[in-house]
Amino acid sequence: MQTIQSLDPLRNAVETLRADGELALVPTMGALHEGHLTLVREAKARAAHVAVSIFVNPRQFGANEDLDAYPRRLERDCAMLEGEGVSLVWAPSVEVMYPEGYATNISVSGVSEGLCGASRPGHFDGVATVVCKLFNQVRPDLAFFGEKDWQQLAVIRRMARDLDLVRPHADRIFGVPTVREADGLAMSSRNAYLSPNERAKAAALPQAMHEAIGKIEGGSEVAATLGHLALELLDRGFASVDYVELCDASSLEPMSALTGKPARLLVAARIGPARLIDNMAVNGAH
Ligand code: PAF
Repeated sequence: MQTIQSLDPLRNAVETLRADGELALVPTMGALHEGHLTLVREAKARAAHVAVSIFVNPRQFGANEDLDAYPRRLERDCAMLEGEGVSLVWAPSVEVMYPEGYATNISVSGVSEGLCGASRPGHFDGVATVVCKLFNQVRPDLAFFGEKDWQQLAVIRRMARDLDLVRPHADRIFGVPTVREADGLAMSSRNAYLSPNERAKAAALPQAMHEAIGKIEGGSEVAATLGHLALELLDRGFASVDYVELCDASSLEPMSALTGKPARLLVAARIGPARLIDNMAVNGAH
């Protein structure tokens, strides 16, 4: 496994790997956990070689967010990836990614605007910009993202379609189902911020979501059920709820009732120092 930190060696390494078969990219911000390794395994199953990028992208953090506190564990991450048969780790510095004079921003309207886009202005511009750069740097045939960041996946697919990206083509951007802890909490690097007490309470998020989905699929009114879900989270130890929405699974337009089209329940809520997000499929039509 090669760990590369500048662009020229990256281009050479990528060319050599691609001569040998398809190359998959798993973009990450490091602090890897089982959820990331699941993406890597999925990528390995579909491509001859897997590249993993590790870059804590300052452009996707707001002024009051956790950029400085975000865990950075390059050595440990590389050791984990070596064990997974990854061919290449791309770990550029901020200066390599955004050299002096850097001035370009990619903004995807529509899917970026609601949900996390409303509570984190500029976040998805930062994500779309860095992912487009990572795609151009690594030029993968396929790319893999966690479904835990459902809106991020929708934004990246829209960006790839709109910009006619070739490596990877939008159709070869894959979402991988969320990996969960035994109590149902979605794995996230930000779970590390939680105290044991907060961590125990955080399991209320997936549990309350499952309960709400059962009610909506059983015919309960959507608005009332979502309102009840938000109150339930506050009752069970969350400090605040950023959003609780039922949306069309691909356009992310809010839905006030099930229509038979794929729907998704998406939630963001704060507990202790962490803002947790989760999403789940909702089936049926009423
Ligand atoms: O999901 C993440 O870890 C990041 O948002 C990504 C896609 C690596 C872009 O920085």
